[in-house]
Amino acid sequence: MSKFPLDTWNDPRNKIAFKYADNDMGYITHAHWIVSLVMDLIDIKPIELLNYSLLDYGCGTARMARLFSHYFGSVSAYDPNYDCIKVAHEEIEKTNKAELKIINENLFHTNDIDYLLDGYKNYFDFITCVNVLEHLYDNEVELEFDRMKKLLKPNGVMIFWLHTKKNKNFIDKYINKGLINIQDKIMETPYYKYKNGVGIIQIFKYTNI
Ligand SMILES: C[S@@+](CC[C@H](N)C(=O)[O-])C[C@H]1O[C@@H](n2cnc3c(N)ncnc32)[C@H](O)[C@@H]1O
Repeated sequence: MSKFPLDTWNDPRNKIAFKYADNDMGYITHAHWIVSLVMDLIDIKPIELLNYSLLDYGCGTARMARLFSHYFGSVSAYDPNYDCIKVAHEEIEKTNKAELKIINENLFHTNDIDYLLDGYKNYFDFITCVNVLEHLYDNEVELEFDRMKKLLKPNGVMIFWLHTKKNKNFIDKYINKGLINIQDKIMETPYYKYKNGVGIIQIFKYTNI
């Protein structure tokens, strides 16, 4: 069971980054900010990025997946909450931008994540996971982490966006104690460290080897 049950995220525009609930542009520019930091960390030439696939795991309304779809050859987005994917589909259809069509076929809602695992084992070059793990119990974190590892290509990269305080358990257990083989811990560079009301946001990069 989630620390936050899955239905917490019903009505996602009032629940995810809820300080932007009445500010659509704020919601989008916040996603731009996250995506720009992730792109900076990935640091691959735009033309080469077209050969790469990305999955946003726990995508919410796919606000970030839509932006990633400007850069990557293929972008997919997964969320177990039905409302999130419904809103994502509605927003993508209404905005009707050619590049967003890429992810329409790749927008997943499933209660059976094993369906995803079957079709997409070792498939993705990159998996991003933004503000998801802190809402899960430790056993769920392990489960989701293992699932992401299965979906990732050998040498693929996972990028986690975490609040330090809220994720103290995750960071202590999986990162500080070395249970996850973190290749880069971007903790000291201020560009990747942002203090807000709830703690410090950090980006971690994990390479599947
Ligand atoms: C705080 S929201 C973040 C959404 C999105 N990453 C963003 O930043 O816009 C947390 C998301 O995690 C999803 N989630 C909850 N449990 C999950 C699980 N076990 N695996 C993957 N995603 C999950 C929720 O449905 C929700 O969309």
